[in-house]
Amino acid sequence: MGHLLSRPSPHPAILEYKGGADSSTETLADKRPGSTIDELSLLTRAKGHYWYPVDGKKVLDGCGGAGVACIGHGRQDVIKVAMAQMKAFSYVSYAHFKTAPVQALSDWLIASTRGRMQKVYIMCSGSEAVEAALKMSREYFVWKGEPQRVNFITRWESYHGTTIGSLSASGHVVRRGPFEPMLLSQFHRISSCNPYRQRLEGESDAEFVARKIQELEDTFQRLGPTTVAAVILEPTVGAALGCVPAVPGYLSAMKLVCERHGALMIFDEVMCGMGRTGTLHAWEQEQTVPDLQTIAKGFSGGYQPASALLVGETIAEVMRQDEKAFTHGHTYQNHPVVAATALKVQQIIQDEKLLSNVRTQGRLLERLLEERLGSHPNVGNIRGRGLFWGIEFVKDRKTKEPFDPALQISHQIFRVALKDFRVLVYHGQGCAGGGRGDHIMVMPAYNITGRLVEEIVERVASAVEEVFR
Ligand SMILES: Cc1ncc(COP(=O)(O)O)c(C=O)c1O
Repeated sequence: MGHLLSRPSPHPAILEYKGGADSSTETLADKRPGSTIDELSLLTRAKGHYWYPVDGKKVLDGCGGAGVACIGHGRQDVIKVAMAQMKAFSYVSYAHFKTAPVQALSDWLIASTRGRMQKVYIMCSGSEAVEAALKMSREYFVWKGEPQRVNFITRWESYHGTTIGSLSASGHVVRRGPFEPMLLSQFHRISSCNPYRQRLEGESDAEFVARKIQELEDTFQRLGPTTVAAVILEPTVGAALGCVPAVPGYLSAMKLVCERHGALMIFDEVMCGMGRTGTLHAWEQEQTVPDLQTIAKGFSGGYQPASALLVGETIAEVMRQDEKAFTHGHTYQNHPVVAATALKVQQIIQDEKLLSNVRTQGRLLERLLEERLGSHPNVGNIRGRGLFWGIEFVKDRKTKEPFDPALQISHQIFRVALKDFRVLVYHGQGCAGGGRGDHIMVMPAYNITGRLVEEIVERVASAVEEVFR
């Protein structure tokens, strides 16, 4: 019997939400018996591309947690650098001293953008980096004497973080749900860029992009173009849509609209950046440089909690000229151990030519997923870039009708993959809009081998087949 039929009835809270749980939404799942939290096994160690829980056989890492562990687990070269920094000094306030690791990492990051980004603030989480980007946008306009710019344009089916500001920017129905009345009213959502669900019959890329651009323009006009501080978007949408890259031409056209109205463009590359989609910065794929860029996850590969806000030349220039300082700071900002570790991870990615491997293994991953699952009756769409691939599940391939969220299809696949096939994938809901639609994400480490890509696909496909059998 397939797992679909043997699923226990969902907790009433899930039905109430009309959405569902995903890999980082514990609030729904952990309250019901047999939930993710109850099922979690104690992890004892992780090495290379495997997790070792106490409940039995090792688990093949098909997603690096939330797309984080990009060079595998337990690298002694990284651990050595982190320990050496801790021995020298483990903490200092950024307000008291500059430190060599922070300077080295900032210089490295700026050079990696060929100077298009000119200032760096190192933080610990993606939410912090997004929060800082939103506040920096606002303060920039205060410096410029345009204090009426208080509005932000964001997109549905997006995720930018868990704090009030970053969640206000997010268009993730389920994660916003309980907090909706507390979220900020200055955030205005337009549609995502999702050709699988939104492209009209016979519509070309250019026509599709034109429609999206018109929607952005209309939103600027509705709000009053001079009231908009920034547009924020993920170049390839991660957890909220399941690895959907922007249609060619979309990013540059969106940026042009911002420029025309004097607003800033923020690219949230927390998940899709730092090599995950095949180039160090996702914006390199369309040569569209944002005004502000957030990075995290693959930045430190999980060896330290690391994120950063990168500031582009327009804002940096105003800061330099007018000697402005950002009214913002965290206790752990510019943490020396975080910086030393992230720099080492980046040097490994560079020295071992891992971005080229991301592109090579990414092509293999795409081909194998397509071969193995492309014609499955419940697989609606397989999409992604680099080592960032999403599989969307549907009740009916023709109508693209999603499953009832209460069935928690993606959670079931995650569970069966982990328990029965010992492979870890990331799962999410909401990709069809309005909290509906199930997807899983496959995001192996950048140093994955072809043999392990084959094994991941085989195990994931077996789990999918088992759930729908
Ligand atoms: C695109 C994006 N932005 C921001 C965040 C928030 O990052 P964090 O969970 O580290 O706070 C995430 C997390 O998944 C993300 O995917």
